Amino acid sequence: MARTIAVANQKGGVGKTTTVINLAAYLADAGKRVLAVDCDPQGNTTTGLGIDKSLVDVSIYEVLVGGGSILDALVQTSVLGLHLVPGTLDLAGAEIELLNEEDRSLRLRKALAPIVDRYDYVFIDCPPSLGVLTINALACADGVLIPLQCEFFALEGLTQLLTTIDLVRARINAHLELAGIVLTMYDGRTNLAQQVAEEVRSHFGDKVFTTVIPRTVRLSEAPSYGQPILRYDPRSKAAEVYRALAKEMLAYGSQ
Ligand SMILES: Nc1ncnc2c1ncn2[C@@H]1O[C@H](COP(=O)(O)OP(=O)(O)OP(=O)(O)O)[C@@H](O)[C@H]1O
Ligand SMILES: [Mg+2]
Repeated sequence: MARTIAVANQKGGVGKTTTVINLAAYLADAGKRVLAVDCDPQGNTTTGLGIDKSLVDVSIYEVLVGGGSILDALVQTSVLGLHLVPGTLDLAGAEIELLNEEDRSLRLRKALAPIVDRYDYVFIDCPPSLGVLTINALACADGVLIPLQCEFFALEGLTQLLTTIDLVRARINAHLELAGIVLTMYDGRTNLAQQVAEEVRSHFGDKVFTTVIPRTVRLSEAPSYGQPILRYDPRSKAAEVYRALAKEMLAYGSQ
């Protein structure tokens, strides 16, 4: 049975997309069948996995809004075993276009249903908002993975996200759980980062992944080459930490 994981945080630029791309790539590298779904109009997961958005015929937009089949949207990436459902700027209109649709929160769940069992993991990259796209991701996920940047306002935003998760659990997806929190862009030289990390660990205990993703320039370079870090620089520290995160997730899944 696939584990569907929404990677969400309404705060922008915290490492959602980077985590989807690299975790998905390392799990595929470990022999798992993995699907990444790009639910962000920015389409950064799509570009970061080497798919040219201008050449995408059927994207998640056609699937969610136009009634297209997800089978027509699936693309193979350069990593064996890693498939992608691309996202493009069209998605920016989805919020308004779905406004009067009664099933608007359940579109992704319905779309994924026929293919979800083909995969061991499905990662859904969410946009930096708690709008209809993120709700669609939460509505069909088994777990939410929250990338968290260790900075001053991080915890404030987290409370709002956790409230949304509770609401979704109560209304549309009873088995949604917190899959984990991953600390990203960590700069251990600052006291603030250390303090926030300690605070998060004391609140959330073993829900916080042991692996911490440091701030490293290799991770910001890789997407412009359309490559996950395992291709761009497999011997870097960045590669090491995302490989370790994938390992933790595998161990967690087998419990
Ligand atoms: N650990 C890291 N070290 C350095 N740069 C990073 C790291 N993780 C991500 N980045 C870079 O920071 C920027 C934001 O990361 P990313 O796109 O993954 O965040 P996001 O949460 O998906 O953003 P958005 O909310 O806009 O979708 C990107 O340019 C990315 O390449
Ligand atoms: Mg993103």
